[in-house]
Amino acid sequence: MIIAVTNLKGGVGKSTIARNLAAYFSAQGVKTCIIDTDLEQRTTCDWQERRDDTAMRIPVFPMTTVQALPKDVETHSQDGYNMIIIDGVPQIDQVATRTILICDILLIPITPSIDDLKSFERFLIRYDEVKVHRENIPAFLVLNKYNGRNNEDKEVRSALELFGEYGIEPLRSTLGDRVAHRRGSKYGLTAYEWEDERARKEVTALCEELEEIMESLNPNRSKHAKARKKINH
Ligand SMILES: Nc1ncnc2c1ncn2[C@@H]1O[C@H](COP(=O)(O)OP(=O)(O)O)[C@@H](O)[C@H]1O
Ligand SMILES: [Mg+2]
Repeated sequence: MIIAVTNLKGGVGKSTIARNLAAYFSAQGVKTCIIDTDLEQRTTCDWQERRDDTAMRIPVFPMTTVQALPKDVETHSQDGYNMIIIDGVPQIDQVATRTILICDILLIPITPSIDDLKSFERFLIRYDEVKVHRENIPAFLVLNKYNGRNNEDKEVRSALELFGEYGIEPLRSTLGDRVAHRRGSKYGLTAYEWEDERARKEVTALCEELEEIMESLNPNRSKHAKARKKINH
């Protein structure tokens, strides 16, 4: 399974979400790795270097080159990684296009701000171009840094429903603006691993929703995952 976390904007939580998904699936016993496609920033490669040896192992591989991204994915999957999370780049370029073409699920984080909505509209232009080459991309928006208390939050949430006509649905699960994400990152950890029960619950709910989606995409594969989960617990 290849889950890509992408959006053309920086700071929306692509890397944070990619790492949390990786932590969750690794904890479920799924052999998981992350491909960091942002060769300029390498934020997730750096994050992994901050990670202690005692923490659960989450391998992070930098993408070799844009052209080689599909090959990289193939190599990691031959090496036994059943879950490959692609941490995306904040530009409209070949990396974004290739990422959209090769993933099984596309996750698009967005924060509840008008700036994000505007940049997402630009993302849709690229997305529509890519859709010429690949129909039916399972794509979902995930509201990040969303507390749902003020009117702006609520307005953005209802605006997201409108993107359904592009075949991009908002997930029910959202992630709040929680310091655990930033604190954890300082030590190469994730909010899923940090001592903040609410942050952990939000990540868990998001990942469980993704598991449901995976099951609907590929019922047989998910039966195995469920059996493995039972054995692990
Ligand atoms: N839900 C959240 N709550 C609090 N801080 C967050 C959350 N998501 C991301 N952040 C912080 O926001 C900043 C940008 O996030 P990052 O994942 O690096 O974005 P991107 O990869 O899209 O550029 C980081 O400092 C990260 O720790
Ligand atoms: Mg990033």
